[in-house]
Amino acid sequence: MKFFIDTANLSDIAEAQALGVLDGVTTNPSLMAKEGITGEANILAHYQNICDLVKGDVSAEVISTDFDGMVKEGEALAALHPQIVVKLPMIAAGVKACKYFSNKGIRTNVTLVFSAGQALLAAKAGATYVSPFLGRLDDISTDGLNLIAEIRLIYDNYGFETQILAASIRHTMHVIDCAKLGSDVMTGPLSSITGLLKHPLTDIGLAKFLEDYKKGNH
Ligand code: G3P
Repeated sequence: MKFFIDTANLSDIAEAQALGVLDGVTTNPSLMAKEGITGEANILAHYQNICDLVKGDVSAEVISTDFDGMVKEGEALAALHPQIVVKLPMIAAGVKACKYFSNKGIRTNVTLVFSAGQALLAAKAGATYVSPFLGRLDDISTDGLNLIAEIRLIYDNYGFETQILAASIRHTMHVIDCAKLGSDVMTGPLSSITGLLKHPLTDIGLAKFLEDYKKGNH
């Protein structure tokens, strides 16, 4: 299972990278705005900074909603760095652009996916990644994990190579449940990765080991 971090915060990205378990980064316009990154030149420079920090794939989202605009933006993003994956919204123009990029060998991440039908369309269009939003489904009392299970079943039935990128992950249990369901990738905040470290018995056990070592070596 690949671990992506879902942020545009360079210090969070560096911390996850330093842990040695980071496989990539996902961003979106809201996450860029949260870091105060605005304007095309600054946004492109920020993607470059993120690519310099990590070794894996970096999803960069287009803001156009028409096919021609998506193609123009996506080509510019893909040309920026070989690690860039063009992130496209699940609308008709996004599906069309996904097919266009797939034919050109440019990697894509189809985002804002909330149904199995949408995930099927993304795979048919040759998406590299599909991003079902778990947390936002849970927010409206709909089982986000069930969507991951449905997509896994459908993709396995037909051997689709599109990777399931579980997004809108909010906490460690989402990560663990997605791992059980065979999600290829998860993307979440730094806390969803570092939270996996924590267990009180680990801390208690380590304290005891160190205490016993001191007793035997004073
Ligand atoms: O990767 C998608 C993600 O950024 C959405 O997360 O927490 O805003 O629903 P959230």
